[in-house]
Amino acid sequence: MDFSRRQCLLGLGGVAAGSALLSMVDQAAAQNPQSAKMTRFAQTGGDFGWTPHKLDPQEVAAVAYEGYWHKGYACGYGCFYSLIGLMAEKYGAPYNTFPFTMLEANKGGISDWGTICGALYGAAAAFALFWGRNDRTPMVNELYRWYEVTKLPIYKPAKALGVEGEIPNNAAGSVLCHISVSKWCYANKIEATSKKRNERCGRLTADVAAKACEILNAKIDQGKSFKGAFAKQEAVETCGTCHQTKGEEANWAKGVMDCTPCHDGGKALTNKFVDHP
Ligand code: HEC
Ligand code: HEC
Repeated sequence: MDFSRRQCLLGLGGVAAGSALLSMVDQAAAQNPQSAKMTRFAQTGGDFGWTPHKLDPQEVAAVAYEGYWHKGYACGYGCFYSLIGLMAEKYGAPYNTFPFTMLEANKGGISDWGTICGALYGAAAAFALFWGRNDRTPMVNELYRWYEVTKLPIYKPAKALGVEGEIPNNAAGSVLCHISVSKWCYANKIEATSKKRNERCGRLTADVAAKACEILNAKIDQGKSFKGAFAKQEAVETCGTCHQTKGEEANWAKGVMDCTPCHDGGKALTNKFVDHP
């Protein structure tokens, strides 16, 4: 601690500030008497212990879009903030205790690696504040299958924060950022590093957040009986009979992403390491 700061703490107001700080610590300990004797893996509030609240999908979409652009924190942050941040704005604690910038790691399919679309992970993470695996997986399935087949983006901002006007849409066929973005860029001859691509992802973040909100609202209403509308993808169903069935000799395939974009032998999937520009 430097001299001026120490002086400030110990000088005028220092005693009051110091004791206020102490009583805050005491209060925190009183609110959570277990903290001293917490056993490993025991979690404040219990596992998946927060209470969900319904939100308005239209409001969620607008906040997700704004969150995408906020300091460039992007898709995962925008989507997660629009759900949990809005609960924080409306209901306070515990939602307002969440360190939202954690979700900035989702940008570009996790630190620009192009893996899972960050908005999709943002939604799954938000669901996981409230629901454990058995309840959550049908919710995630519904959102992710919708994403694979729906032409996105749909959302039109009242005032664009990146690029005004129409933005082309496509069905990604995949939940992966790499496939989703690259296909869209190739089809429309738009550079992946362009602001127009950012605008596309910003609007898509709004769409994902709104859909996630609809799913969250339906889950609150329907509880255990919640079921999504989307059936398992045809390829996952058929390929899975051998590759994802216990006891089958070829039971090797992990995951339930649509198999098609990677195993259909299309033009993009041929060997590009020979005779390629
Ligand atoms: C009737 C059962 C069956 C179905 C249905 C099936 N497979 Fe297979 N698959 C096999 C078997 C058995 C092998 C192992 C063949 C070998 O040993 O080379 C295999 C091998 C593979 C391999 C690795 C070797 C290779 O040939 O490339 C891939 C990838 C694969 N399958 C993907 C798929 C996909 C994608 C689908 C759905 C379109 C699918 N399979 C449907 C039985 C099946
Ligand atoms: C995002 C692309 C992608 C998707 C989606 C995908 N796969 Fe694969 N899969 C791969 C890659 C890449 C490999 C590794 C291939 C290799 O060995 O070079 C692989 C490996 C496999 C293998 C092992 C065989 C091998 O040659 O290594 C099987 C079997 C397989 N996939 C089946 C499936 C099935 C069934 C689905 C759908 C449920 C599916 N995959 C979805 C890309 C994908």
